[in-house]
Amino acid sequence: MAESTVYTTEQILSSRPVAEPLIANGVRCHGGFDEDGLYHSPRTLCRQPAIEAWQAQLADAGHELLDIPASLMPPQYPNAAQAKLLLRHGVHEPLVRSLTIIAIVEGFGAMIRDVQVPDLGKAFDESLEGTALDHLTRGLFEAHARDESGYRDEGGHKQMWEAARDAALENPKIPGDVLMRLMGRRGQGGAAKPSFPEIGEPLERMLAFMANVFVIEIFAEGTFRWGVDILSDPEVSAAPEVAGGMVRNIQADEKPHVEYLRTALSEVAARTIQTVDGKKISGKKVMDGLLHRILVQMTRSRPSDQRDDLRENLAQAIRSASNPTALQDDFDALDMAWEPPTKTGFEPALDAA
Ligand SMILES: [Fe+2]
Ligand SMILES: [Fe+2]
Repeated sequence: MAESTVYTTEQILSSRPVAEPLIANGVRCHGGFDEDGLYHSPRTLCRQPAIEAWQAQLADAGHELLDIPASLMPPQYPNAAQAKLLLRHGVHEPLVRSLTIIAIVEGFGAMIRDVQVPDLGKAFDESLEGTALDHLTRGLFEAHARDESGYRDEGGHKQMWEAARDAALENPKIPGDVLMRLMGRRGQGGAAKPSFPEIGEPLERMLAFMANVFVIEIFAEGTFRWGVDILSDPEVSAAPEVAGGMVRNIQADEKPHVEYLRTALSEVAARTIQTVDGKKISGKKVMDGLLHRILVQMTRSRPSDQRDDLRENLAQAIRSASNPTALQDDFDALDMAWEPPTKTGFEPALDAA
């Protein structure tokens, strides 16, 4: 029997019972383990079958699911080989900084619950009954927010990355200026000019925010592989199993985030949007345009942002090593140049009407 496509908020937020909770560095986190020791992500009892049902519904109607090519994913800096080199030479601060930034950014994920959702029933020609779009404010955004920043006395990804960092690097001293620097850089962007003024600002703002988070969630896959590689390496990690396992648990929790956003944005692309002046525009044209804009911006800015966050501190940290010149040379030799591909795959069609 096909799974239902309609759920209550309580159902979307419900978790399966676990035999053993996930405790990380003394912090009770979300999710937990079943009798066989298998990790189960929080709030997936109904959310997971719901997402599968919405995706099947799109496929049955002949619509494709949006995907972002893996070739667009910028590499993490410093890369795993560079991070391990520093750790082997007793230089911990750059990695502590990187991991702290990741934890903070995970916590920012809670902002998704504050997204202003306009009257979507009026925005599209087609019905929204039994779609992911219809459940954004009925549990999907809230579940996402709770997963990222924790809920009540349960830690979320923010606390789980901190626990992985503290276990692997033995409770390192956390530089006091990480958040301040991050906020300083984030404030510089300014709001983007609307790409589709005809759909109205509230709808474009919501779709752009969701598309942005969708891309971040997909690109995070590279960060998880990087984290698992470093933190589960016994040569540089004091807790290879605990810290590496923790990042794998976070990685598992991200799957529903990627998939509900993919589903909802694909539902938009499969629909027709009513413009504010009574005309129509294809949802696909809007989604392609927004994704193209976001991908161009993110593939260009992210590598340099990560370098900027660390640059000053990195040189200084390397100078504290016993042989700083050789270490800097070895570090630079491991650098891998990366250029974003020239195309995003979402370029507007030349004949687009
Ligand atoms: Fe997360
Ligand atoms: Fe996420």
